[in-house]
Parts: sequence; structure tokens; C-alpha cells
Amino acid sequence: MIDVKNLSKDYSIKRKGAGLSGALKGLVTRNTDVIHAVKNLSFHIDEGEIVGFIGPNGAGKSTTIKMMSGILTPTGGSVLIDGEDITKHRKEVVRNIGVVFGQRTQLNWDLRLGETFELLKHIYRIGQTDYDKTLDVMNDILGIKELIDKPVRQMSLGQRVKGDLVASMLHSPKVLFLDEPTIALDVSAKYSLRKFIKEINQVRKTTIILTTHDLGDIQELCERLIIINHGEMMEDGNLKEITDRIAPYKTLVVEYYDEEAPSHVKCEMIGHEGNVARYRFAKSDITAADIIADLSAKKSLKDVSIEEAGIDDIIKIAYGN
Ligand SMILES: Nc1ncnc2c1ncn2[C@@H]1O[C@H](COP(=O)(O)OP(=O)(O)OP(=O)(O)O)[C@@H](O)[C@H]1O
Ligand SMILES: [Mg+2]
Repeated sequence: MIDVKNLSKDYSIKRKGAGLSGALKGLVTRNTDVIHAVKNLSFHIDEGEIVGFIGPNGAGKSTTIKMMSGILTPTGGSVLIDGEDITKHRKEVVRNIGVVFGQRTQLNWDLRLGETFELLKHIYRIGQTDYDKTLDVMNDILGIKELIDKPVRQMSLGQRVKGDLVASMLHSPKVLFLDEPTIALDVSAKYSLRKFIKEINQVRKTTIILTTHDLGDIQELCERLIIINHGEMMEDGNLKEITDRIAPYKTLVVEYYDEEAPSHVKCEMIGHEGNVARYRFAKSDITAADIIADLSAKKSLKDVSIEEAGIDDIIKIAYGN
């Protein structure tokens, strides 16, 4: 469905010296800096996948999404959507994709939401029956109809994001790029958005590439993760497989009746506060049951719980801090 090969993007930015003299000098000598925002990225995404595309600020995620959706021209490499090159057949390919940027609306501020939808209906030549059907489905998931007469200018951020999502789905694209769609959404809007993503993926088999800093989005939606940093590929694989590989441990949390906590040879005590001690252990090394048995032979335990390495551990390790 999506084939990205050796994709790169360089930004050239003009360097200005400080102050007036610097600005004047800039008029004479043009110094430019080059930022290698995306370096040689290659990956393949199958139809119907939901892929979490993540990385720290400035990693190159939005730049990649803009190249994949035809908004930016790559410096090098190619993007094929359903076998067609986005730079060579932009018009045709764009019919197959939808894109939403949580930070920036693509809706017209001066129109009512419904007017923007009507406009898109004409641009994409969507038939009335298809249009009505899509709007019904979107209404069931996002409750969009109550917003249809509202001017975009008067919408709250969450309402606006919902509008953007529906606008991106009207022409029933096969691929949906979502760049931080949950940014600044409240808990319930976030919940509807996740429901929306799951539903269009299941019902319409829409392929989804999702950028987010919300670990809950990833845990809830993505089986596969692509992690980039400094424009380079860090990880590409199954979420659970990546977790097991880069964070192959669990944490046992034990509450005692007093502040004294025994150590265990096969565990690292990563925390000890009051009556509670936290033991980290390698999954391949020992089981939680054995540790509990060993510890309770030394002291009586009041309570225990086990924490799996979470997505936040993975991110910390993969992002390199
Ligand atoms: N229009 C531009 N001109 C010059 N440099 C840019 C431009 N857009 C992005 N950059 C630079 O390219 C790099 C990648 O930016 P990008 O927006 O793709 O990152 P990101 O992964 O989306 O980050 P975030 O999580 O903050 O959204 C950054 O160093 C950024 O400063
Ligand atoms: Mg971004």
C-alpha cells in the first residue's frame, strides 16, 4: 500500500548575523545552513495497518508525513501509494489519501463547517448518496451533525479537529495520515477519536499512519511502531516485539509492614520509599512468583503488584535518554 524508499528531506535556511550589521551583511553574502530533517528512510506499510509513527520533537515526523501526502517534495527518494509515485502522479494519488494536522486546520475559517464539506464534495466529485452515507457514519462516531451550521471560526479546538477529521474522510481515502490528531483534545474527545480510528480501520480497511506524543494512543491503537530520531530510522516492528527486545524486564512492587526491605540477588532495587520497595528483574532470568517466595521467606509481605515495561520505557530507551 505505501512504499517509502530512501526518503530524504533537506531544508535550507538563510543564516542571518546578529543585529543590523548582520542583517546588512546578509544582503551581500548569502549564508545558508542545511538541515537534514529526514535521512534515507525506507519502510513498507500494508493495506489496513495502523502504524504509530513516533519520535521526539524535531525528529522529522511531520516532514515525512508531508512528503508522504504530497505537501512537500522530497530532496531524495520516493513514496509510492498503491503503486503510484506521489510526486509524479500527485493529482491521482491525492484522491486516495486524507491528511489531518492536529496543530493546523485545513478548514476555511470564513465558512460554516457544512459549507466546507459541500466544497470538498464538489472538488472530489463525491456523489450525494456516498456523501450522505459517509456523513451518517461520521455522525455516529463523532457527532458531527450538530456542528454542521457552526462557522469554523467559532469552533473550539476539539470541535475543529473533529471537523478536520470528517473533512479528510469525505472522499473515502484508502490511506489516512494523522499528525498529532489528539493534541489538545479533552479526554472524551480523545476517546471518540480513538474510536473513530479503530472503526474506519475495521469497517473501511483504511490504512492509518499516526503521529502522536500520547502513549495511550499508541497502546490503544497501534500494533506496529516506527520510531525515528534525528531523521533516521531507529525501530520498525511489532510493539510487543520491540518492548520485549529493548525493555525485557518487569518490576515487582512490594509493600511491607515496615520500612525495612530485603534485597534479592536476581533483582535490582530501583526504588524504596516508606514501606514500598520496587524490584526490577529480567523476564528471562526469574519469575515474579519465585521472587515473591524468596522475599516472603525473609519477611512478611503486605501487598504485591507487577508492572510490565510500558511504552514509556520503550520511548525513553529508543529516544536515547
Ligand atoms: N519549513 C522548515 N524550514 C526549515 N527547517 C524546518 C522546517 N520544518 C521543519 N524544519 C526542521 O526539520 C526538523 C524536523 O522537523 P519536523 O517538524 O519534521 O519534526 P517532528 O518530528 O514533526 O517534531 P514534533 O514532534 O515537534 O512535531 C527540525 O529540526 C525542524 O526544525
Ligand atoms: Mg510534528
